[in-house]
Amino acid sequence: MKKLKNIKLYEGGISSIPGKKNVTKLSSNESPFGPSVRVQKAITIAKSKTHKYPDGNSIQLKTTLSKKSKLNINNLFIGNGSDEILGIACQLFLNKGDEVIIPKHSFLMFEIYSKISGGVVKQSRTNNLRFDVENILKNISKKTKIIFIAQPNNPTGFYLSKQELKLLITKVPKKIIIIIDAAYSEYVTDKDYTNGIDFAKRHKNIIVTRTFSKIFGLASLRLGWCYAHNDIIQLMNKVRGPFNINQIAQTAGIEALKDKKYVKNSINHNKFWLRKMNSELSKLPIQVCDSRANFLLLNIGKSVKILNRFLLSKSIIVRLMDKYNLPQYIRVSIGTSKENKKFIKSMKEFFNDKK
Ligand SMILES: Cc1ncc(COP(=O)(O)O)c(C=O)c1O
Repeated sequence: MKKLKNIKLYEGGISSIPGKKNVTKLSSNESPFGPSVRVQKAITIAKSKTHKYPDGNSIQLKTTLSKKSKLNINNLFIGNGSDEILGIACQLFLNKGDEVIIPKHSFLMFEIYSKISGGVVKQSRTNNLRFDVENILKNISKKTKIIFIAQPNNPTGFYLSKQELKLLITKVPKKIIIIIDAAYSEYVTDKDYTNGIDFAKRHKNIIVTRTFSKIFGLASLRLGWCYAHNDIIQLMNKVRGPFNINQIAQTAGIEALKDKKYVKNSINHNKFWLRKMNSELSKLPIQVCDSRANFLLLNIGKSVKILNRFLLSKSIIVRLMDKYNLPQYIRVSIGTSKENKKFIKSMKEFFNDKK
């Protein structure tokens, strides 16, 4: 497989440290909370039925999702993580040599899936790590087939305002697919934010992907969904595996959608700690990006590797950003209150001892 030679292997955040028992894992933007009690109960019931194939169409889950999010069921597709949907979209819309525009410093899987499907990636410029709409437009050529927008972006936590997104959508030729990856959308409560679904209702060339891995705390079950025009949904259904979503994930997803209190608590917790971590860490000689997601990107400068070793010695795992071409940065997820306090304390200890 010659074409796979130039594709980097995706490496997730490490989850253990040799010799350490109680690690604080803040490297994968997961929910700091376990699944809700409601979800756990549903999983217990569903696990006694693993000898049966799951519902291949995820009908109950789609029905619940449709009701809860007030979206037409015919525009919904359920994926094995939103990840699977990104891959399927590339499979559907890319042929060898087609171009894909991905802003610099964005989710690594965009590039990997594009290349697997023979796509040629063009990176658009960023300004102070923020996506540059004009530059995305400048990169469009006759060969462009897909534009990826992470909204908000991983690893920065920045997003395009409604106005900026609207400008982009209006100016992009309709034959180009815009994939808006809104994996962290539930965390963003700012008025000028949109997850793009309202645009997708009016424009046939937009796919909005969402996930149960973050706010709903179901990362391990691999459950995601997307909203798109029914023509696209039908194509997606043709290429997915016949039973792409296991029954435990379907059942858990349904209960998770009903658990408004759990989601609200998670949003409030995240909002509080995002602000607190930002203000505490801003007192240190580092640069803190003003994220709206469930993580913070920190420009540490030259001592990034020494800091990482120090944090590991304290049993704290954060994400190094070399793969994102940000070698002086780390990304840290918002954890439980105890984990966040431990992280802030360790950061202060490191930088104060350095003085
Ligand atoms: C921007 C973005 N999109 C998608 C995903 C993958 O989500 P899922 O677990 O639904 O595959 C991630 C995971 O970190 C992400 O950061």
